[in-house]
Amino acid sequence: MTHANRHTILTGDRTTGPLHLGHYIGSLRARVQLQHEANQFLLLADTQALTDNVGRHQKVTANVIEVALDYLAVGIDPAKSTILIQSQVPELAELSQYLLNLVTVARLERNPTIKEEIRLRGFERDIPAGFLTYPVSQAADITAFKATHVPVGDDQLPMIEQTNELVRRFNHTVDRSVLVECVAVLSQVTRLPGIDGKAKMSKSLGNAITLAATPDEITKAVNNMYTDPLHLRVSDPGRVEGNVVFAFLDAFEPDVQKVDELKAHYRRGGLGDSVVKRVLNERLQALIEPIRARRGELEKEPAEVLAILRSGTERAREVAGKTLSEVKGALGLSYF
Ligand code: TRP
Repeated sequence: MTHANRHTILTGDRTTGPLHLGHYIGSLRARVQLQHEANQFLLLADTQALTDNVGRHQKVTANVIEVALDYLAVGIDPAKSTILIQSQVPELAELSQYLLNLVTVARLERNPTIKEEIRLRGFERDIPAGFLTYPVSQAADITAFKATHVPVGDDQLPMIEQTNELVRRFNHTVDRSVLVECVAVLSQVTRLPGIDGKAKMSKSLGNAITLAATPDEITKAVNNMYTDPLHLRVSDPGRVEGNVVFAFLDAFEPDVQKVDELKAHYRRGGLGDSVVKRVLNERLQALIEPIRARRGELEKEPAEVLAILRSGTERAREVAGKTLSEVKGALGLSYF
């Protein structure tokens, strides 16, 4: 593949906490692969994180570094991928400003992701305007880099739809193809459940295993995993559906045949939770151990990590700046 027809990929993570195994399965693992085939931008979405973390800006800032460490520790290579800090690319805010005129408040209020998040946060009518409009800032993130592919979880699909609406609206308004539509790329195992059995793993729900988890934390999390509440004795037949240990084995154990055998045995009865948990614990320890080790090394070199973020952000500003001049030119905003 020549450089010219490479896909451009943009991904983003709100910097509200260190990343966990849900992120690993949902996106990180794929990003490490994709960086070899595509022109990949990884956005540390600190500006977006502020939209629902007013007053908690120190946490947001601290987590920029945590997420960057996670990226580097799992194998994101700054020579292949561009890691950028959203707040340090003012072109993104500027582009958002123009896009905001192309969407109605009613349309934003209908965005299913926003609706669900408003419900989760109990905002009722007291929604920060910046929060309601974050789909527009996300559209700016994507279009500033002319991304063609955006890997996301299924909860973010409405964001991609809204981005493409804005692209069409903008191009139609200026009667020129300036911005580029994108497609969502869904991962195969889109969503990992929390260790408590809740649908989604999330740091704020306290049901996550982070990529920096210690061996003890991993063991404790596995031992606390929700299984089948009716599987009381080893000899009882057990349920695999909704059983978090098996959901994790599906996601992390590459030996599919071994997982199938464990499932069959569990369903029949005669296989205790502790045995299955031991298999999973070994798997997760082996997965996280090298990530944790690499993270530990990087933590000792904060200047190096900052230099990576600085150069990625500079590279990103060049690309976003080019798009922005096209956008402003098309809108007639080029006076000098
Ligand atoms: N909204 C995403 C999240 O909730 C983060 C994000 C910001 C993003 N900008 C993006 C994702 C652009 C994809 C593309 O984590």
